[in-house]
Amino acid sequence: MTITYKDAQGIAGMRVAGRLAGELLDYLTPLVKPGVTTNEIDRLADDYTRRVLGAISAPLDYAPSGHNPYPKAICTSINHQVCHGIPNDKPLKEGDIVNIDVTIIKNGWHGDSSRMFIVGKASLAARRLCALTYEAMWHGILRVRDGAYLGDIGHAIQQFAEGHGLSVVREFCGHGIGQKFHEEPQVLHYGKPGTLEQLRAGMTITIEPMLNAGRREIRELGDGWTIVTKDRSLSAQWEHTVLVTESGFEVLTLSPLSPPIPAFALASHA
Ligand code: MF3
Ligand code: CO
Ligand code: CO
Repeated sequence: MTITYKDAQGIAGMRVAGRLAGELLDYLTPLVKPGVTTNEIDRLADDYTRRVLGAISAPLDYAPSGHNPYPKAICTSINHQVCHGIPNDKPLKEGDIVNIDVTIIKNGWHGDSSRMFIVGKASLAARRLCALTYEAMWHGILRVRDGAYLGDIGHAIQQFAEGHGLSVVREFCGHGIGQKFHEEPQVLHYGKPGTLEQLRAGMTITIEPMLNAGRREIRELGDGWTIVTKDRSLSAQWEHTVLVTESGFEVLTLSPLSPPIPAFALASHA
């Protein structure tokens, strides 16, 4: 597979798909409360995607090689779960932190975004991890522009994360996205400036760092999907789909309930 570059029509399609992915996360936001099960959130997400957005849930039956088909419409990763947590009938409880990752397909184009949700009141350490991971994602986004290197993005995220005592998961990365869910290139969340592929206007990529409070090592559970931290430390992730432009970037998955853009990002992008 090769990198795809979106023309005006492709960009228009990606803007719509991205906006709807953000809208789906907005719709789910008030549902995330103590006592709700992730299966309930999953069912409502799939209904909303079909009936309101007129779109398709990309994760459902997604089966990359070496994997059994993913059984649900969204991913819900709680506490020490890093990513690809499968919704189930266990209620969320006060103090949990949960990543909800949604990917929708609208008119053939994919929009992919995830956010952290804090269930009731969480520990200071949990809230700090969620907030710093959000900032780490934005440090990566800020590197995006025509001519920048993928290593610039990874380096910015890694430097910020490790500078705050957090570790970067290596085994999973951001990705090109378009008419396919996962396209080239891989967008690593660690690396060295000036290395790897150069970004070009018209590319659409995701930036989706997974940061752990403890060590970076992970393992996969027996369900063939759920990834957890080996040391059972907390893990957080945020994800946006981003268009590369001549002068910088356009975040395609912003929506009314997206958290505020960090001040450092507003300042440097103004
Ligand atoms: N949404 C995830 C990503 O950001 C991929 C989930 S694949 C699934 O790339 F099958 F687990 F849904
Ligand atoms: Co993604
Ligand atoms: Co995703």
